[in-house]
Amino acid sequence: MRVTIRELKSMKARGEKIAMITAYDYTSAMIVERAGIPIILVGDSLGHVVMGHDSTLPVTMEDMVHHIKAVVRGTEKVHVVGDMPFMSYQADAADAIRNAGRLLKEGGCQSVKLEGGRYIADTVRKIVGAGVPVMGHLGLTPQAVNQLGGYRIQGRTTKAAVELIDDAKALEDAGAYALVLEGVPMQLAQMITERLAIPTIGIGAGVHCDGQVQVFHDLLGLFDDFTPKHARKYANLSETIQDAVSRYVGDVRAETFPTDKESFNMSPEVVRELTGQHVETV
Ligand code: KIV
Repeated sequence: MRVTIRELKSMKARGEKIAMITAYDYTSAMIVERAGIPIILVGDSLGHVVMGHDSTLPVTMEDMVHHIKAVVRGTEKVHVVGDMPFMSYQADAADAIRNAGRLLKEGGCQSVKLEGGRYIADTVRKIVGAGVPVMGHLGLTPQAVNQLGGYRIQGRTTKAAVELIDDAKALEDAGAYALVLEGVPMQLAQMITERLAIPTIGIGAGVHCDGQVQVFHDLLGLFDDFTPKHARKYANLSETIQDAVSRYVGDVRAETFPTDKESFNMSPEVVRELTGQHVETV
């Protein structure tokens, strides 16, 4: 049985911090599950780190279903959250319910995440009503990058902070089971966390959230294009991989790879027969 939304909510009640990480494929999902992660987000950040787009906007439902399926196949116990891509839920609630359902039905994840506050709260209520658990996402919402005028910290003024607090309350009232707070001042994240019964999961939102989420590639130093201030590199895999692959290139060129140990043998008789045949046909 996978981790349920009930267990995630009770982690907040017990004061147990929630560590969430993104994953996008079978192998990495398997590794992070082994490391003790209770919840994986198949984020539309895959638009950046897997597909090489300069925003999350081009990511499609098909992209999400494809990657969610791989992560679900690689895991047994973790709760898998599937991100709803841009324009799969904003235009129409009926569309939103169908698309959220697709992520569970075809992808196999246990809940979905979508961005936005009061504007989207009614849609959240309807998706939850259809039996699909929803995680909200407020603050620096990357799908709204054009509206926000860039990837900027949100909620710094009194007015903006009050709006975010109202948005958070609206999402909780609509039935969201958890809330990602991205790119907001830590004091605001603390106020929201204290006002909600559901867990807040921060990214660039300080230590007072009920949990944290990081992008796999940022945490492991795999993505050189850009490292956000909120990310801590626990490894430098980009350098490790580059070094390993360049040693492989050197070994191939020097003919030190493969050795006999990495090769397969035929019996000497077969070799003799084949060589003989070859000689005859020349
Ligand atoms: O897509 C994503 O990875 C996310 C996290 C950054 C929260 O939404």
